[in-house]
Amino acid sequence: MNLHGKSILVTGGAGFIGSELSRQLLAAGAKVVIVDNLANGKRENVAEILGDACVLRVTDIRDYPAMQALVREADIIFHLACLGVRHSIHSPLENHAVNAEATLHLLKMAHEKGVERFVYVSSSEVYGTAMQVPQPETHPTFPMTVYGAAKLAGEAYTRAYHRTYGLPTVVIRPFNTYGPRCHHEGDSGEVIPKFLLRTLAGKPMVIFGDGTQTRDFTFVSDTARGIIEAGLAQAAIGDTINIGSGFEIRVRDLADEVRAVTGKTDAQVIHEQDRPGDVLRLYSDTTKARALIGFAPQVTLREGLARLLAWYQAQGKSPEELLAHEIVKNWEVKA
Ligand SMILES: NC(=O)c1ccc[n+]([C@@H]2O[C@H](COP(=O)([O-])OP(=O)(O)OC[C@H]3O[C@@H](n4cnc5c(N)ncnc54)[C@H](O)[C@@H]3O)[C@@H](O)[C@H]2O)c1
Repeated sequence: MNLHGKSILVTGGAGFIGSELSRQLLAAGAKVVIVDNLANGKRENVAEILGDACVLRVTDIRDYPAMQALVREADIIFHLACLGVRHSIHSPLENHAVNAEATLHLLKMAHEKGVERFVYVSSSEVYGTAMQVPQPETHPTFPMTVYGAAKLAGEAYTRAYHRTYGLPTVVIRPFNTYGPRCHHEGDSGEVIPKFLLRTLAGKPMVIFGDGTQTRDFTFVSDTARGIIEAGLAQAAIGDTINIGSGFEIRVRDLADEVRAVTGKTDAQVIHEQDRPGDVLRLYSDTTKARALIGFAPQVTLREGLARLLAWYQAQGKSPEELLAHEIVKNWEVKA
């Protein structure tokens, strides 16, 4: 893909997926402006790509005058900035304000500017627990959490801006993503990094519930490539597209994968009470992405876990040091 001469605004670009997305956009020749308030993103996630072609603006997307100025300079917007699912459990109003309300403001600005494309990065959490598998984009949307509901509102506003005003929008629904720069800390902490680091530190992996809940895990380079290619495909304008691995695994079986990759075959698991609002089954149907852009994930779960392990080992910090920032029941506290 050749993006030479394009000015691309990436909200949430200092975050986990956004930093990989920004890296891939730069490699395709784009000029990238990252906007992130560093609530959960980190300057170090993008430090090595900052320069003439890539700048970081530390701004809250709810600072509308500042965002207006940034949108005016953009040809294309990838909107990823958001607060996460566990955040929504302890802080629902703030979660709505960032994930839903600010999205509507950005759409209005994007329409007034006349951007070439507005790509809204939603989430498989809009589906709630799967009623049929695999889940195509037409699967009913019954989110369990305020996060899922706010992402669904952001999607609905995005589609409305396409239908009412003709804004060229694309909605992408990534399924669970993991890889370098993923979160183990605070209320952003996710199951794969937590399992991996706890196992390396000789601590038991904590499963909430019986571990039969399933997820469809995609490696971050595959997710970012899918977002870019589907987001910029001409035939995708006005559409909503799943990006996932098309592979379903139970959380208790994920623990076995972590044992295999770390070589710690006797690593223990402990079970805690269910998480509130936990989705029990997620499994993507990626037929549409395959037809549209030939999307096929390149990194298997086993390979992706090995790459993440190698990345942690290259960070120069022990698993114990990293885990100092872990909160086990990370929906209970205000981070
Ligand atoms: N990680 C996953 O498994 C996953 C799965 C499905 C969808 N998604 C979606 O992908 C996108 C990126 O998720 P991620 O996992 O990289 O999370 P992340 O938290 O690493 O990235 C989100 C970024 O948004 C920034 N942010 C939060 N509030 C902001 C505000 N008010 N103003 C400016 N910046 C703000 C954060 O600092 C962070 O860098 C999100 O839209 C999320 O809904 C993620």
